[in-house]
Amino acid sequence: LARPLHGPVRRRVPRGGWGLPRSSSALAAAGLLCTALTACICWGQLPPMPWASPAPPRPVGVLLWWEPFRGRGGHPRPPPDCSLRFNISGCRLLTDRAAYGEAQAVLFHHRDLALELRSRPPGQRWVWMNFESPSHSPGLRGLPKNLFNWTLSYRLGSLLARKRDLVAWVVSHWDERQARVRYYHQLSRHVSVDVFGRAGPGQPVPASGLLHTVARYKFYLAFENSQHVDYITEKLWRNAFLAGAVPVVLGPDRANYERFVPRGSFIHVDDFPSAASLAAYLLFLDRNLAVYRRYFHWRRSYAVHITSFWDEPWCRACQAVQTSGDQPKSIHNLAGWFER
Ligand SMILES: *[C@@H]1O[C@H](CO)[C@@H](O)[C@H](O)[C@H]1NC(C)=O
Ligand SMILES: *[C@@H]1O[C@H](CO)[C@@H](O)[C@H](O)[C@H]1NC(C)=O
Repeated sequence: LARPLHGPVRRRVPRGGWGLPRSSSALAAAGLLCTALTACICWGQLPPMPWASPAPPRPVGVLLWWEPFRGRGGHPRPPPDCSLRFNISGCRLLTDRAAYGEAQAVLFHHRDLALELRSRPPGQRWVWMNFESPSHSPGLRGLPKNLFNWTLSYRLGSLLARKRDLVAWVVSHWDERQARVRYYHQLSRHVSVDVFGRAGPGQPVPASGLLHTVARYKFYLAFENSQHVDYITEKLWRNAFLAGAVPVVLGPDRANYERFVPRGSFIHVDDFPSAASLAAYLLFLDRNLAVYRRYFHWRRSYAVHITSFWDEPWCRACQAVQTSGDQPKSIHNLAGWFER
């Protein structure tokens, strides 16, 4: 029984920038997803037979139920190489529905949901995938209860983010005369700041990439190299928001930022009389998760748009299957949770 909840027509999504609620961040979703649970990979625990070299683990099959990418001539785009792109090995990304029975996880994209109610092979997870805000997610309330096992979205807790590190900064030009460098010196006396990039005290950006690196941190210093009206760059949009770190901004004044982004989405250095008091506040947020999470509330109505947001969630879903153990779980009231 095919039940299209809504048609396959996609809303045109403007690229970059802000405004109306938009399509969103793979990385936010992914950052959340990636650190799912601490469970181990079961097969990894089996002792190898003494006479055999350890067999590589059976790859995890993740079926994308609706193939969104059409390349030239309407041909499906090949799935990404998770190992090459995201350092996640042991994935088999599937697009052919004939492989349904072999998939450990099936991803359903909300806006293109045409559920076919079939029986689920034992242990198979159905994953509800959505990068739109609730106001652009029609048909939410019509979804049957307990249909999905997992969610994959920009929401915190869509497979949990576990951020272990505190403050990151990526900088490519180092100039002691810049306000941002002076501020960094003051701040780093009170809280440890990990600097990445080729300049100054920077360490090389790990091969996993900048966004992955930043995603491990609670805060990102989105410090502009110079201060001008409306001069707010990818340091905020991409490095901080997309990576899912709370930006600490230094640039134009707070009112200027608020012309572009919700007021509760960032911390402005001007909000504090000194770098020392900003440092104390960051350390306070580090200990008070509930307060820290308020910096993510805006994501209920807005989302950061990234142009290619399929590959990574797909691979991340595979990784989540690998690390999740076999604890059963289903999402009881998806609309009730998502619309909150
Ligand atoms: C890739 O993943 C492996 C296993 O998780 C890890 O040991 C290695 O450091 C990772 N490499 C990079 C470049 O992140
Ligand atoms: C997935 O959800 C279904 C329906 O709620 C449930 O029967 C099944 O046990 C769940 N599977 C897992 C692996 O959580």
